[in-house]
Amino acid sequence: MKDYKRTLITTALPYANGPVHIGHLAGVYVPADIYARYLRLRGREVVMIGGSDEHGVPITLKAKKEGVTPQDIVDKYHGIIKDAFGRFGISFDVYSRTSSKTHFETASEFFKTLYDKGEFVEKSSQQFYDEENNQFLADRYITGTCPHCKSEGAYGDQCEACGTSLNATDLINPKSAISGNVPVLKETKHWYLPLDKYEPWLKEWILEGHKEWKSNVYGQCKSWLDSGLHPRAVTRDLNWGVPVPVEEAEGKVLYVWFDAPIGYISATKEMTPDWEKYWKDEDTKMVHFIGKDNIVFHCIIFPSMLKAEGSYILPENVPSNEFLNLEGDKISTSRNWAVWLHEYLDEFPGKEDVLKYVLTANAPETKDNDFTWKDFQARNNNELVAVLGNFVNRALVLTNKYYKGVVPALGELTDVDKETLAEIARLKAEVEKSLENYRFREALKFAMDLGRLGNKYLADEEPWKVVKTDPTRVETIMNICLQITANLTIMMEPFLPFTMDKLRGFLNLEKLDWERLGDTALLAAGHEVKKPELLFEKIEDSVIEAQVQKLLDTKKANEMEAAVVAPAKENIEFDDFTKMDIRVGTIIAAEKVAKTKKLLKLEVDTGIDKRTVVSGIAEYYKPEDIIGKQVSILVNLAPKKLRGIESQGMILMAEDADGALRFVSPTDAVKPGSEIR
Ligand code: 2FM
Ligand code: ZN
Repeated sequence: MKDYKRTLITTALPYANGPVHIGHLAGVYVPADIYARYLRLRGREVVMIGGSDEHGVPITLKAKKEGVTPQDIVDKYHGIIKDAFGRFGISFDVYSRTSSKTHFETASEFFKTLYDKGEFVEKSSQQFYDEENNQFLADRYITGTCPHCKSEGAYGDQCEACGTSLNATDLINPKSAISGNVPVLKETKHWYLPLDKYEPWLKEWILEGHKEWKSNVYGQCKSWLDSGLHPRAVTRDLNWGVPVPVEEAEGKVLYVWFDAPIGYISATKEMTPDWEKYWKDEDTKMVHFIGKDNIVFHCIIFPSMLKAEGSYILPENVPSNEFLNLEGDKISTSRNWAVWLHEYLDEFPGKEDVLKYVLTANAPETKDNDFTWKDFQARNNNELVAVLGNFVNRALVLTNKYYKGVVPALGELTDVDKETLAEIARLKAEVEKSLENYRFREALKFAMDLGRLGNKYLADEEPWKVVKTDPTRVETIMNICLQITANLTIMMEPFLPFTMDKLRGFLNLEKLDWERLGDTALLAAGHEVKKPELLFEKIEDSVIEAQVQKLLDTKKANEMEAAVVAPAKENIEFDDFTKMDIRVGTIIAAEKVAKTKKLLKLEVDTGIDKRTVVSGIAEYYKPEDIIGKQVSILVNLAPKKLRGIESQGMILMAEDADGALRFVSPTDAVKPGSEIR
């Protein structure tokens, strides 16, 4: 492989319409951070770019729903996301946002360059238009029935139920998400990037030139390329985004997927005036860290844009991950089915590395994986505490106990000692190989093997027994344990940076370069170490149960919400409706029905007469509180005996999703007997 001078790591820009969750972290930011930290530790020139993606229709929809501006939405979430990344220790060299001035200029110029070079195809087409709101409807603003799986609620660009990408005009019964009306088709002009033109080149570049890409990435590219590429519109009729810098494009903005990847360039510009060396020098290795839903944009569309522009380099690799599910269900921002990073950081202070560890050990690298709180607890307790923490703690505690914290000298080595020390270099090579090939999960396993090695060595050598018979031998054993511990501070640094910082503190050791890894004399005899604290602590069942309960509460809330919007009943004729005689009545007496929990016996003045009604509302109203209350009563319901009392009619109640009942009352007092129709 080519020897590059520097590495440019880009991380997918998260949409600023919600906080970041464990799916984002496992898919993109944790592996990218490990990679960046590893390269830095090797002394390589590397930058890691991040930022918030602040355009796109979902942001405008959310703003509309909350009655605020899109800028309010992105300001809020950009703040939350950036702060959480900072606290979690994702080591961006810059974290920017696509609403920045630099980004508007950069994206605009990029478009203009392609426009001036004649790289776009202009096309007019019929697009859905909402006549009530006088606006064209972006694909996300149109919902309808999926033509493939027949699910309701598919969007104009994609059905989330079956994952098929759609054209809005394919939807059955399309509706405007703004007004709920049926949209009409109207002509509009847009600029298209002719992907078909780049198809032969893309085939060569990816299918022939990048066979080493992960099979999920390569496979998705191949399937896109095999089914043939078509021109893709890069502008939209929308008022939120980067305006299209062409006179006749008034009211149009750049498509979010056109401007977002340019955000990587803008962020680099904000980081350094010397940005071009990262983007325009063949000696830069560019790597895009993304989730699998971003593959086509980063492997096909963005490279075509870069190629069309002509002065930029292309990605060398695109190590995309699959998805992480949560307790068996797809993570969803809208359904609040997620472990949110900012909440985790508040609820598990000091445990940043535990989450990094779990998300890497269980990373969805080759297939979708599941995050469960039980697994989180098990990996913490059985791996971090029982293996890594335990080994390091024993090594330091025994050194303090036997030698007052002074590193003892190495004596004569047994075969086991030699093999143990040689193992460090072997594991180093394995970790390197895995990391260079973006296999982070495997790399972490090898790194943990060093902890396991130490643990086993200590358990086999039993210095606490040998000390009674052969104290000189114990000096060698403890020296070896300490060298393993010191090596761990290097090997584990990319994965567990906060913890290794702590461990270096215990060892009284500075941060060492990757190249020192494998050195079996990192700590000289006579060096003093400190008294250790625990590196990791056990996570109790109650903590995990509380998190599971939180998710169960979310599930319940979602079910309730779904129940409230239960589909409407079938249409009826007006005549059917008028058969019901509903009046406003006033409750004049109320008492509990003996030996029942739910029933009240009410006397109601219906305007026509005064009658008895038995109503199942005792759990929601006390008899004394409802005297004089005006309610709706169905007066021509056939009488029925309940607990021996004849009920002459029915009080109408509103029932919410969890079954709670409320009277349906006129907002102002009316005469009893007033008809409801
Ligand atoms: O899928 C997403 O969350 C997008 N916001 C990713 C954009 S990546 C890049 F192109 F900016
Ligand atoms: Zn579908």
